[in-house]
Amino acid sequence: MKTVKDYIRTIVDFPHEGILFRDVTTLFADPRGFRMCVDQLLAPYAGMRIDKVVGLEARGFILGGAVAHQLSTGFVPIRKKGKLPGQTISQAYTLEYGEAVVEVHDDAMQAGEKVLLVDDLLATGGTAEAGIKLIERLGAQVIGCAFVVDLPDLGGRKKLESMGMDVHALCA
Ligand code: PRP
Ligand code: ADE
Repeated sequence: MKTVKDYIRTIVDFPHEGILFRDVTTLFADPRGFRMCVDQLLAPYAGMRIDKVVGLEARGFILGGAVAHQLSTGFVPIRKKGKLPGQTISQAYTLEYGEAVVEVHDDAMQAGEKVLLVDDLLATGGTAEAGIKLIERLGAQVIGCAFVVDLPDLGGRKKLESMGMDVHALCA
């Protein structure tokens, strides 16, 4: 039987020379692969209270929407700076070259809510760390961080675990 990893395509030298880009569009495009992926992402959290699913732009929106629908929870997007129309809070984070900023609507979560953070891929962990900070600044609690792919050599899992996070990924 095929695994989630079997549906993911690797593109060499995208977007820069030397990068092996893990392309999850082939996973999302396959009905069995996508279903398997959402079911496996949710398995570790069976029976746990989850009030909101938060997805990180952009591929985390595709996954997070499906996960939230499956759980019958709400979905909250964390977006790159300047995209959200309402009142937001912002968090800067470090990229390989330079800095970026992500934002969330300041009324998107309530204090005390339990949140599952979802994204397609964990690399350095900078994006997820910024997302966690935004969620925590709104008083909500991240009960888990779920990814399809973990690139362990880039240190993201260690970074999130050192923040006390529970991290799950389906493949490396
Ligand atoms: C990718 C990926 C994660 C992030 C992981 O998104 O989808 O969100 O990088 O990298 P990190 O762990 O080093 O922070 P990207 O920033 O390329 O944005 P996109 O999904 O909008 O293309
Ligand atoms: N984001 C950061 N590194 C990546 C990679 N190797 N493949 C896909 N998305 C990424």
